[in-house]
Amino acid sequence: MAKVYVITSGKGGVGKTTLTANLGTIMASKGDKVALIDADIGMKNLDVVLGLENRIVYTSMDVVNGKVDVFDALVRHKQLKNLSLLPASQVATKEMISPDDMKKIVSQISEKFDYILIDCPAGIERGFRNAVAPAEEAIVVTTPELPAITDADRVIGLLENMNFEDSKIHLIINRFKPHMVRHGDMLTVDDIKSALSIDIIGIVPDSEDVIVATNKGVPLALMDGKDKMGKILEGIVLRLKGEEVPIPTLEELEEKQSWWKNFRNLFRRD
Ligand SMILES: Nc1ncnc2c1ncn2[C@@H]1O[C@H](COP(=O)(O)OP(=O)(O)OP(=O)(O)O)[C@@H](O)[C@H]1O
Ligand SMILES: [Mg+2]
Repeated sequence: MAKVYVITSGKGGVGKTTLTANLGTIMASKGDKVALIDADIGMKNLDVVLGLENRIVYTSMDVVNGKVDVFDALVRHKQLKNLSLLPASQVATKEMISPDDMKKIVSQISEKFDYILIDCPAGIERGFRNAVAPAEEAIVVTTPELPAITDADRVIGLLENMNFEDSKIHLIINRFKPHMVRHGDMLTVDDIKSALSIDIIGIVPDSEDVIVATNKGVPLALMDGKDKMGKILEGIVLRLKGEEVPIPTLEELEEKQSWWKNFRNLFRRD
């Protein structure tokens, strides 16, 4: 039976889809069988981040309507054969699928996968409830800005009300800028930790390489020469698996960031 995670945030645009694609890619490249479910019905972009948008034939909506079997709708990743995507329909609305439909879909595929990651839409309405319903554990994503943290806090409260134990809720701080923290211009990890009081499973620096990878439709974790960022993402996967991998310190994150900067500057012509 697969372990099922929902990647959620409350606030939009904090990196849920990017992290779902990258964590799934790393899990699959380590040999796990992984299914990613795009629960952002009506918006969908997990397919684009994975470079799979042209391969979609059916979506979760067709499965719910009984048009096809869920296994017919799953799209395999081009390079990683043990990574599959259940695409979301762009023409349907979130109200056309219910939390029970999502539970059914997940229970049908659960036996065939080691991990199922559900990419949640922004907000706390129906789409959120659909995405959370089949999940055993939640990964809450926030950026280090107050509006995102406030929304993450709200989502954590909702998850607790839905009977998620605190040990099943993990936090990723995304788009972290160590140099701003050093200059006192950004909230520190401790500030965020004390505001949200849940376990931090990872800190992901802000990096232009994420944007480059996204625009190429190749998850960062699969791009050549991106091993530093890959290590950070891999650390998150290992921690999810219960391994004791220390979270990089501010100094280490700064080091990784300046490594990126130096590398980029080397090839910059302006
Ligand atoms: N660590 C990062 N460094 C730089 N850019 C990032 C990082 N993570 C995400 N981004 C960028 O932020 C933007 C939003 O990311 P993404 O679409 O993953 O967010 P989301 O939470 O899924 O948004 P939505 O709520 O709309 O579904 C994208 O352009 C993505 O490339
Ligand atoms: Mg998204």
